[in-house]
Amino acid sequence: MPDTISGIDPVRRLACEAAFARLQARGAAFLGSEVAIMGGAMSWVSERNLVAAISNAGGFGVIACGSMPPALLAAEIAATQALTAKPFGVNLITMHPQLDDLVRVCLEAGVGHIVLAGGIPPGPAVRAVKDGGARLIAFAPALVLARRLVRSGVDALVIEGAEAGGHIGPVTLTVLAQEILPHIREVPVFVAGGLGRGEAILGYLEMGASGAQLGTLFAASTESIAHAKFKAAFIRANARDALPSMQIDERFPVIPVRGLVNEGTKRFMAHQAEVLAQFQSGALDKGAAQLSIEHFWAGALRRAVVDGDVETGSVMAGQSVGMVSEVAPVASILAALKAQAVAALVAREAGG
Ligand SMILES: Cc1cc2nc3c(=O)[nH]c(=O)nc-3n(C[C@H](O)[C@H](O)[C@H](O)COP(=O)(O)O)c2cc1C
Repeated sequence: MPDTISGIDPVRRLACEAAFARLQARGAAFLGSEVAIMGGAMSWVSERNLVAAISNAGGFGVIACGSMPPALLAAEIAATQALTAKPFGVNLITMHPQLDDLVRVCLEAGVGHIVLAGGIPPGPAVRAVKDGGARLIAFAPALVLARRLVRSGVDALVIEGAEAGGHIGPVTLTVLAQEILPHIREVPVFVAGGLGRGEAILGYLEMGASGAQLGTLFAASTESIAHAKFKAAFIRANARDALPSMQIDERFPVIPVRGLVNEGTKRFMAHQAEVLAQFQSGALDKGAAQLSIEHFWAGALRRAVVDGDVETGSVMAGQSVGMVSEVAPVASILAALKAQAVAALVAREAGG
């Protein structure tokens, strides 16, 4: 998998490696890691093993809290700390009913970076993170929101394009990067969504990003605890197989989730059609119909990741899945990304 950069004049290679490191310096200093690459939190996937592996390999792992209760999160943080002495973060979903307790758990455990995902972070959570001395990272889906988040005291932003796996917004990283990177200099900005090669990361760093966040590539890594069938599905898939979930009626909104098309995604369309028919016939009221649609995927990501049910489970994956060709250790994935970026710089210098 790693693109070789051997055979290149060592002096020129070292200069290009230094140039790549300089481009990441702000992001790496912010994270306290060697490289400014975050492992995007992935529910059921980003647990102690993967998070520690990413941090130990020089990147920055992030635990996905998902729907974990505070006691479970505390145990996961402690288990991760037992596997790595390097910094890592914790991703909390803002609509978690015990958000304040989860923040407290992170602070008490000395977690240095807290990512608040799933919406604009509520004021009390922002203050709690900042007062507790941790660094706060939030997602900015548009420039106006990026500015508002910076004003509210957020320490870094992630801009995640629609190419990403999991819950997505409507705008691609290509466009978000042009909209946001030239205007936000106050805090480091990390780019995410569809990233699978070092040349692309290099390009965004040159546009002003401080680092990148990747999910899909790490989900298929050796250290990921995802089921072998989940990883095999990633290896088989092409970019075009990772599609957003669709809604069939605007009265019943579906938050788009990008994942591999399978029997489950087909059944979801049929389920929406059935629910819509029941609503139209008066058999279901609007609230019950919406709930039935929302509940369709309950437990489905766990089924795919943990049980290996890649037929009816939710196989969340970014378009970058097309660049996953083998199960490789996290360290080789990071090495390949670096080698690709450095090779691009070397080739540019050589005019080729
Ligand atoms: C299987 C899977 C589960 C994910 N779960 C979460 C999550 O729980 N919270 C979150 O903020 N992002 C989640 N994401 C998004 C990732 O953190 C990351 O931003 C995204 O994967 C980046 O795009 P990429 O997959 O193209 O690299 C998930 C992504 C995947 C593939």
